[in-house]
Amino acid sequence: MPAPGTGAGSGRGGMTGSTRRQFLLGGAVAGVGAATAIGADHALNTTPSTEEASVPLNGQETVPFHGTHQAGIDTDAQAHGLFVALDLLDTTDRDDLARMMRILTDDAARLTQGSPALADSEPELALSPARLTVTFGFGPRFVARAQGEAPGWLKALPSFTVDRLLPEFSDGDVLLQIAADDPLTVAHAARMLLKDARSFASVRWSQQGFRRAHGSVRPGTTMRNLFGQVDGTSNPAPGTADFDQVVWNGEGWLAGGTSAVVRRIGMDLDKWDRLDRGGREQAVGRFLSNGAPLTGTNEFDEPDFEATTPIGFPVIPEFSHVRRARSENPAERIFRRGYNYDDRPAGGAVSRSGLIFVSFQADVARQFVPVQTRLDQLDLLNEWTVPIGSAVFVIPPGCSEDGFVGDTLLTGKQAPQ
Ligand code: HEM
Repeated sequence: MPAPGTGAGSGRGGMTGSTRRQFLLGGAVAGVGAATAIGADHALNTTPSTEEASVPLNGQETVPFHGTHQAGIDTDAQAHGLFVALDLLDTTDRDDLARMMRILTDDAARLTQGSPALADSEPELALSPARLTVTFGFGPRFVARAQGEAPGWLKALPSFTVDRLLPEFSDGDVLLQIAADDPLTVAHAARMLLKDARSFASVRWSQQGFRRAHGSVRPGTTMRNLFGQVDGTSNPAPGTADFDQVVWNGEGWLAGGTSAVVRRIGMDLDKWDRLDRGGREQAVGRFLSNGAPLTGTNEFDEPDFEATTPIGFPVIPEFSHVRRARSENPAERIFRRGYNYDDRPAGGAVSRSGLIFVSFQADVARQFVPVQTRLDQLDLLNEWTVPIGSAVFVIPPGCSEDGFVGDTLLTGKQAPQ
């Protein structure tokens, strides 16, 4: 695992100014017209002075696109995440799916490395990738239309009593998870991908999320959610055998892939305001100051679920989120990589916020569902949270430079090792 914040493989795939220039001009020759539109003189003018070039810019950092796994899962989470679900058009058949994925893969491979997409209408916006990753997922209808074998868990989750799901934030045939440390980069990548997807699919929902801006906190700091909690402490660490076991699936066309559960969970901040600090810490089982368990002092101390107070109550309450979310069965674990959201308030409230809960796991039924079932039965956090969107996707493996994301499903190609 690369040092946090350095971006896996930073420097790899970075283009020199002259390569970019050639690309821009090449694009114009290819009939793209981008360089013509902006003027070739300006297109040539992207090379920084020696002095400027010596200042490392986060915007220049890249995360490799090709490989065994798709990027954007074991990548240190970027500051901005956009989740878009597409519905396939009725006319989109199996061949079209391959065509679409070839084009979208090409866009993503270029944009993530700081190069404009082919026919990029705003090529300058591509020049600061800022650790951009694009991660593709497929819903049940995609796999059915590809005439592939769908894993048994690729379907809507069972309904939970806490759910108040809205169709405008649920389901979908294709997932695009677009994340970078710069929101302009995310917006541009999304536009390029959606323009190229539109003859095959239409947007079903899109959700924008954020974490701390790049540089606000030290790299590697666990994120905080809008309840102020340290959120993401007890998570398998990317780059470890533990992570690989929790996340990567090893079966058939999915080998090297995984699954994503995306749930939009509203957080009632106005109601949370009425709870005192002690009550807030009891609800989760961890301290707000640094995320340490109520039985410890440091964030990564192991919670002691046996510890009791002098009058015999558990220090970490039975109803607390961490006690309920942790399973005695080590196979029931997930990797969480969520983002905050903060919508325009409505109906007299001063906030409409929440969490885009995103988890990756090899098998949704075996790992995610038991955890969510326990939280549905008992979790004090349910007093302040409500799931309003839910979708499940299979995340195919990564691809090699001569392949495309989804090729193991659509062409029977072997996943890259
Ligand atoms: C808005 C909703 C939620 C909030 C605010 C929230 C917040 C938190 C916080 C603050 C922690 C403790 C720190 C940590 O280890 O990350 C935590 C732990 C955890 N949460 Fe959530 N969570 C939410 C929803 C969920 C959901 C829907 C699931 C899965 C179905 C889940 C699964 C977990 C797990 C597995 C842990 C780690 C438990 C452990 O082993 O210690 N959470 N969550």
